Amino acid sequence: MLGGTIMPQLLVNEIPEKDLEAFSDLERQYLSKLYIEKLPRHVAIIMDGNGRWAEKRMLPRNAGHRQGVEALKRVVKVCAIIGIEVLTVYAFSTENWRRPKREVRFLMDLLVEYLEKEIVSLDENNVKVKISGNIEALNPTARDAVIKGLEKTKDNTGLIFNVALNYGGRDEIVRAAQSVARLVKNGDISVEDIDAALFEKFLFTAGLPDPDLIIRTSGEQRLSNFLLWQMAYSEIMFINLLWPDFGKKDLLLALIDFQQRQRRFGALNHKDGE
Ligand code: IPE
Ligand code: IPE
Ligand code: MG
Repeated sequence: MLGGTIMPQLLVNEIPEKDLEAFSDLERQYLSKLYIEKLPRHVAIIMDGNGRWAEKRMLPRNAGHRQGVEALKRVVKVCAIIGIEVLTVYAFSTENWRRPKREVRFLMDLLVEYLEKEIVSLDENNVKVKISGNIEALNPTARDAVIKGLEKTKDNTGLIFNVALNYGGRDEIVRAAQSVARLVKNGDISVEDIDAALFEKFLFTAGLPDPDLIIRTSGEQRLSNFLLWQMAYSEIMFINLLWPDFGKKDLLLALIDFQQRQRRFGALNHKDGE
């Protein structure tokens, strides 16, 4: 068997003691089950259920969004510590503009507040912020906060924290098609030059690996226009927790589940495949 003599490396052995302090005993137990080679390179999350979390507590939906930010901070921290390459989070879809104006406004303000409060710590942790989505359509305050965040962290080499913001999979694919069509029209390429590799260069996620693992919280089992092109071979998990309740341990459990799955990519046994 190819590479049969290589011992899988336990992730927990590679994590500095001071980073381990971020985990409870139970979380450390989960952590100790993870292998470096079996971690997903790219985790993508549909953070769903903020509104229901709040409604269950007779609170306004916005309280759920605020609590959702806390879950996001936990997840970013874990991903940075354990060495995930890319974390994509679905923060605002192209369809979320259909919500009441004040909720949209609140979400945008919350984004600005999050970036303003967290950017220093993200930067210190070597996190590189990236945006997938059309930020031109955001209000100037939100757009400026986003641009500042991108600029400040652009040279960081750790976790790529990709925020899907005003993102829609169809919108992304249509934009890419327009860009490719322009190249053909200008005579830069011929129709026969168009293939998947070329097409992908025009997606918001150009240069990133496809998501290995997609998690949706809240129990809804749908994709809501997320990463339609990129998820061709992603492992998908629908988790019955509302996003604000999603903790470090839930991410670690998802990673344990992921490393037990056998991915085949259309072949027979990917691990032994040529
Ligand atoms: C996800 O929570 C956050 C965003 C879409 C911005 P929701 O706001 O969709 O919460 P539910 O699905 O109504 O509970
Ligand atoms: C998907 O959640 C978008 C985000 C999490 C940002 P939605 O709550 O908007 O999805 P639907 O409308 O239930 O499909
Ligand atoms: Mg929802």
